[in-house]
Amino acid sequence: GAKGMLLFNVLSAYAGDPILSMQLAYRDDARPEKTNLSIGLYYDDQGRIPRLSSVQQARERVLRSTDPSMYLPMSGNPAYCKATQALVFGADAPALHEGRVATIQTVGGSGALKVGADVLRKFFPGAQARISDPSWDNHRAILEGAGFVVETYPYFNRDTQRLDFDRMLAGLKALPQETVVLFHPSCHNPTGADLSQAQWDQVVDIVVSRRLIAFLDMAYQGFGDGLDDDAYLVRALVCANASFLVANSYSKTFSLYGERCGSLSMVCANADEAGRALGQMQQAVRRNYSSPPAFGASLVETVLNDAELAALWRSELAEMRTRIQTMRSRLYEGLCAQQPGVDWAFLMAQKGMFGYAPVLAQHMMRLRNEHAVYIIESGRICVAGLNDANVDRVAYAFAAVLK
Ligand code: LMR
Repeated sequence: GAKGMLLFNVLSAYAGDPILSMQLAYRDDARPEKTNLSIGLYYDDQGRIPRLSSVQQARERVLRSTDPSMYLPMSGNPAYCKATQALVFGADAPALHEGRVATIQTVGGSGALKVGADVLRKFFPGAQARISDPSWDNHRAILEGAGFVVETYPYFNRDTQRLDFDRMLAGLKALPQETVVLFHPSCHNPTGADLSQAQWDQVVDIVVSRRLIAFLDMAYQGFGDGLDDDAYLVRALVCANASFLVANSYSKTFSLYGERCGSLSMVCANADEAGRALGQMQQAVRRNYSSPPAFGASLVETVLNDAELAALWRSELAEMRTRIQTMRSRLYEGLCAQQPGVDWAFLMAQKGMFGYAPVLAQHMMRLRNEHAVYIIESGRICVAGLNDANVDRVAYAFAAVLK
């Protein structure tokens, strides 16, 4: 029976998020052999979410502090923002010295996307937004949540299972000026299909000549080819004097998922514009959640601003990157062995945390029910969830459902 006003009876049911729901189903699965290749989490070779040793040492230092827990400014921890700029743009990027990059600390990469979308929506109310086809589901949700009409631009060819660069370029060329276009600079989510540097150069030309508003989501910097290579699009846009936005996230690269460490930068034409960009980002933060949390940012900042810890982190990052690449090859070899007649070469052309095999999409429930292997609906596989102990079983499961 109902009690009270039934005021909220108007609320419709939320279908849940396809990625986060799968994570909960995995957590509640009692089978010991269960394998999580759904959400983008980096597991170590023992199947654990790692605690990086660089971050552990920073944690010990931070916990020694007896400072009270004060509010951070709306824009977050200044030392964190500065270290993040060096990582995202390169330590000696002229744009930083010219003071034309405004950066704030955000609540993860998602928080950066929301704050950036709010600022853009306020000043470009007539603009539409475009995301790649396919993209991370939450890109659409966040941009729509900020009020944008969201459509896609061509990105992936499902027949060749590879990037569809010519159609992508043609699609971008046809966009009206000041369209907000979301790009993944590296480790594309969900496809793992990345552009080459020469291809990015062509995209940069279009962005500048057509006055598009590029919004970069860089959630895996260092998981593809390396910290600088993965940021090629950022550096190329700066060189071309583009004005654009970059969101970054440390969730995966610092293994700090729950601390929600991200940033948003706006690259402007000059310091005056950057000052106003900073102000608008601060206002968007204030009206969403006032200020970001302090603890995680102090860990990241301590690592990045200490030469020894930063070097240790870079080596730990390289180790994670190499392990992902090894597991991708192991999965590929396992699949080739199980299915000699099937061409899985596309898997090896992909980069970063994810493998994308749309052919698996329709078998998602069988993989889960019969093999305790969790992938998400699109056929995306989190390669970083593989290890020596499970990779052959996963290859077997994929081959079994595809028979
Ligand atoms: C993913 O794509 O799995 C990650 O970005 C985690 C998330 O929040 O969806």
